[in-house]
Amino acid sequence: MPAFDEKLAQRIDTYIESLFVPADPILAANIANADAAGLPAINVSPNQGKLLYLLARIAGARRVLEIGTLGGYSTTWLGRALPANGRLITLEFSPVHAATARKNLAAAGLDGIAEVTVGDAAASMNAMIDAGEPPFDLIFIDADKTGYVKYLDLALQLSRPGTVIVADNVIRNGAVMEENPEDPNAQGAKAYNAAIATHRRLESIAVPLFRDEIDGIAISRVK
Ligand code: SAH
Ligand code: DHB
Ligand code: MG
Repeated sequence: MPAFDEKLAQRIDTYIESLFVPADPILAANIANADAAGLPAINVSPNQGKLLYLLARIAGARRVLEIGTLGGYSTTWLGRALPANGRLITLEFSPVHAATARKNLAAAGLDGIAEVTVGDAAASMNAMIDAGEPPFDLIFIDADKTGYVKYLDLALQLSRPGTVIVADNVIRNGAVMEENPEDPNAQGAKAYNAAIATHRRLESIAVPLFRDEIDGIAISRVK
């Protein structure tokens, strides 16, 4: 079997981006601001951002929940998919990340749609459940991978039939295929994949994607 051709995979990613994701000064500034604020460069790729945007559009989403904001790069893609009266709540543990995201979302003209909630995502989700928050149309899970199964359980309590649940980083360069992955992130992602694969309330698939290494997203629909 020929070895995986990383250069070819990179060229394909660039080819897709050049066709489908035109350069965008707002998104470029988002990344530059995050970098200047010392945030890690672990945002979704441009092609993944476009995919999230399209999933939200296809779902006709008006209410989106994001778990893991960072500097608001994926938030911007998701926010742009919503109608003017749409609502996006994004959950972030780090006050520094949240402040950077708020600035970036204002610069993108999304401050009327997107709200950054600071704190532990599970605590924020439990508070929303207790407060009777209406269900979301799309939920994007992208915070600490060790919490993915817990976030899934809480996301289901904030869902209705038809809600789309998307999770990032579910392949981890294949580490999720190890019987007992050493990397706690891979352990979390592996447990998440197993959970969505058999969950009675979900129909799911995982899609491998290439960026700096092979990773992937999981897409589920609530029955
Ligand atoms: N969705 C972003 C990337 C998120 S990176 C994008 O693609 O642009 C993961 C983020 O989750 C980090 O900002 C990290 O601070 C945050 N995070 C980690 N653990 C968390 C927790 N328990 N609750 C809320 N946010 C958390
Ligand atoms: C990490 C987190 C992410 O959400 C990501 O897309 C890539 C890496 C990380 O914590 O290493
Ligand atoms: Mg991610």
